Amino acid sequence: MTAMFSHQIEVRSHLDFQLNEVPRFWFDNNPYATRLFDSISMLFPVGERFFISSIRPYRAQIQDPALAESVADFCKQEGQHGIQHTLYNDLLIQQGTPTAEIIDKFSERLEEIKKAAPLEMHLATTAALEHMTALMAEAMFSRPEIMANAHPNMRALLAWHAIEEMEHRAVAFDVLTKVVKTSYRKRVLAMTMVVPRFWRDALVHTDQMLKADGFSRLERLNMARKTLPLFFGRKGILTAVSNEFFQYYRRDFHPNDIPVLKHYPRWLSAFEASGDPIYASQQMYAN
Ligand SMILES: [Fe+2]
Ligand SMILES: [Fe+2]
Repeated sequence: MTAMFSHQIEVRSHLDFQLNEVPRFWFDNNPYATRLFDSISMLFPVGERFFISSIRPYRAQIQDPALAESVADFCKQEGQHGIQHTLYNDLLIQQGTPTAEIIDKFSERLEEIKKAAPLEMHLATTAALEHMTALMAEAMFSRPEIMANAHPNMRALLAWHAIEEMEHRAVAFDVLTKVVKTSYRKRVLAMTMVVPRFWRDALVHTDQMLKADGFSRLERLNMARKTLPLFFGRKGILTAVSNEFFQYYRRDFHPNDIPVLKHYPRWLSAFEASGDPIYASQQMYAN
């Protein structure tokens, strides 16, 4: 299949999301949904450092100057994401949540996995998670109603991150398949191994966060029962991208086969006109 979309990777830095204005339960005043998002986003800085460390060792082997430039920009974008999500993590720590402890424990576990797995599998894991993050971007921003009741500053942070994930979604995959020439089996093995672990961690960490927020075990179970179908139910936000997810298992899959987020051009032109990511995210769905 031929690539339908490939985009300029633009590194945007020194952005101000005024995260101090974000309330504790910023997603529709829904503690469970908020902490599920937080549990995923809190590990972005560690995860993104891992992505960068998994691709850097291959830089010297890249012959194609365009791909070499994309790799450099990929690292810069992921570095910027890490900076912004660390600012939000500081806010989570101020709220009295066990964010620092969760990150430390996760980092230790990641170090052990890194030591045990060959470098090629590090990059295969990055490529798998890049597919997941691009699909999460699609899941959250494909329709205006999904993030309509999220706090505008947090929505702006996630929209900017989503946009840049769209821009660089093929970079790790291209290095993995064109430079490292990893087998199909290893590429999909990484996905199969990482996905259950990713969601198990997210759900465990969500529960730990809510416990620190003062919710009882029964309250947490009730919240999970009510909110999880929003994500994983028949019409759930994530269920909506399951077809795209499984395309990764096609032998001839390429990330650019999947159409880019429909509102990407609107975000881009609003950002280019204003330099303001909060304004850009507000303009994504404006008439
Ligand atoms: Fe990122
Ligand atoms: Fe990424």
